[in-house]
This record gives sequence, structure tokens and C-alpha cells, in this order.
Amino acid sequence: MEALIAVPKQRFPCTPRGRNLTRPLRPPRPSLTFRQQTFSAVAAPARQQVTHSMPPEKVEVFKSLEGWASEWVLPLLKPVEQLWQPQDFLPDPAQPFDAFSEQVRELRDRTAELPDEYFVVLVGDMITEDALPTYQTMINTLDGVRDETGASASPWAKWTRSWTAEENRHGDLLRTYLYLSGRVDMRMIERTVQYLISAGMDPGTENNPYLGFVYTSFQERATFVSHGNTARLAKDGGDPVLARICGSIAADERRHENAYSRIVEKLLEVDPTGAMLAIADMMRKKITMPAHLMYDGCDPRLFEHFSAVAQRLGVYTADDYADILEFLIGRWKLEKLEGLTGEGRRAQDFVCGLAPRIRKLQERADERARKMGPQGARFSWIFNKEVAL
Ligand SMILES: [Fe+2]
Ligand SMILES: [Fe+2]
Repeated sequence: MEALIAVPKQRFPCTPRGRNLTRPLRPPRPSLTFRQQTFSAVAAPARQQVTHSMPPEKVEVFKSLEGWASEWVLPLLKPVEQLWQPQDFLPDPAQPFDAFSEQVRELRDRTAELPDEYFVVLVGDMITEDALPTYQTMINTLDGVRDETGASASPWAKWTRSWTAEENRHGDLLRTYLYLSGRVDMRMIERTVQYLISAGMDPGTENNPYLGFVYTSFQERATFVSHGNTARLAKDGGDPVLARICGSIAADERRHENAYSRIVEKLLEVDPTGAMLAIADMMRKKITMPAHLMYDGCDPRLFEHFSAVAQRLGVYTADDYADILEFLIGRWKLEKLEGLTGEGRRAQDFVCGLAPRIRKLQERADERARKMGPQGARFSWIFNKEVAL
């Protein structure tokens, strides 16, 4: 029997670097920047996986905060009827075909001037969003707040399901927009998503909701910053619709950040030392980006290369990492935090003095990179074109 669905031929198979190319790639940098060390799957130090590090009695803390979570966390979700949906930003397929294809043509005209390097960053962001099953799984590893049944009535579980449902719109919208733009190799993107979901993530949160909520506070702010910057670049590059898309996603991330930081704020109130130690622990481990295990079947240093392009375009930089830390220190009033044990005070000193150290390390790494001259990498997502790092 004839196959009903033709498997498309891969137009740009992974080839050894430099083959079929007008000029070979430069060799990779021997030393990585702070940011790359922080976020690269390749360079991240192998970490022993620790599980269930929260003492069992602390589960009670989260049980006792359920009323508080219903009152202060759940209201940060938006009713479905009031939220945007991907279709609000996309050509309407229910129109007559000519009108639909005219809208697709306009979309392609708008994206025509955006540079390839912009698409590398936008694709990386989309892939990060598309690995959402991993993030819901990760949150449901956390003791005391996980969704025990899949439809648990606990406010923690309700939050996680609705948060996931809100996040699900992000990848859908970016993916469809990228598909219609015709600027990217969808098959390679889809392959990367499949690899990434299979690989999972290792944020070092140890089933511990103290660590988990510090991680998500940081992470949601990081995505707020990065989608905000892709919005700005889309506007400068002549696509106001894409700018609105990225801006609307950024606004969701900001709301989510607010919810997670509010939880950590509450933990700092009810258990200052426990929460302070958790913040220090996550910052010592460094906040690993959720897509740090990304792979497209071609480039074993894909995440590092994607991160380097994001850094160069100013979409997400080592400075942003330090800024986020400083922002959270301010929001959580960590410098003025009282009632800490000796160990808690040491953690406080470490966290409050960390941002300037990160900036200094990055300056030195930038200096080393400058001396090495320009570098480049090819990305399968944009048909193996080379982009400067
Ligand atoms: Fe998102
Ligand atoms: Fe998010």
C-alpha cells in the first residue's frame, strides 16, 4: 500500500562542518564566557542529582499556605475569556482563500527584512517555549505542591495547570508565525523540539519547592526580559505585529514572575532562613536555562551557540542575569532581611554580593573573547546559514 503521508526529504542534512559551504567555519572558542558556562549544556559541570532535599516536616509549610495561595497567587491568573489567543495575531484561515493568502503575503513582507540572526534567537525562544511538557513535569516533581491526581483541587495544582495552559499559547503562536514566515527550516526545528523534550532539564531543584520557586521566579523574569527584547528588535526590523506578539508573551511572563516571586516573598516571611538558604543554593548552582539540553541532531554545542547569538543581539545577556539577580534582591528586600540564623546570614552576604562579581567575571570573559576575534556558527534552523557569535 502506498504511504499516505510522504516523509519530506531533509533539504539541509547535517553535514560535517564546512562541507558544501563557501567558506569553512572558524574553530570554536577554546574558553567560554561566564554566560555560556552558566547556560550551556556542554560546559555545565556534571552535577550529582539530589532528590527530596526538603525535610518532610516542611511539607506542612505549603499545606498551611493553601488559603494564602488561593487569595494571593491564583488571582494572578487571567480568566480565559480575557486572554489573547494565538489566532488573534495570525491570518484567519476561515476567510476566503485569496484573503487568507493576502494576509500570509503581508506577514512574509513584514518579516522579509528581519536578519537571519534574529530568527536564530526567535527560534531558540520558540523551542524553549515548546518544551512545555518538561516544565509542567518539573513543577510536579516538587514535594508538597505537586498535582497529585492530574485534577487536584489544591491551589498549588490549580496554579500549575492554569500556568501551563497560559504558557501553551506562547509556543503555539511563535511556531505558527515562524511557519508562515517561510524563513526557517520547520523540520529541523521540530526535530530540535523532539530531542529537547526527550532530554528533559536539570535545574537542580531537588524536588524541593523552596528551590523550585526560586528557580521559576528567576526564570520567568528571564523570559520576560528576553521576549521584551525580541519585541523591540521586531519593531526596529519592520514587523509591528511580531513586536506585539513578543510583547504580549512578555506580559504573560511578567505576571507569572510576579506570582512565583510572591511565593518566595511569603516563604521569606514564614521561614526566612529556609528561604534565604534556598536562594543562595540556586545562585551557587547558577540558574540553568530550561532549554540547556537542546540539540538538533547536528550541532553538539547548539545551546551555547544560540546563547551566544542572544547575547550578541542583546536579547538575553550576562548583564541581564546580574540585573535579574539585583531586581529579585530588591523585590525580596534581602539586604534588610532579619531573623536569620548564622548560616542564613552567610547565605544573605553571598547572594547580596554576587551581582558585581558576575559582572566582573563577564567583563574578563568578554575581553578574552575580543582578543580571539570574530566567531561564527551555522544553524540548521535557518538552512545551515552562518551567523556571527
Ligand atoms: Fe512562556
Ligand atoms: Fe514563562
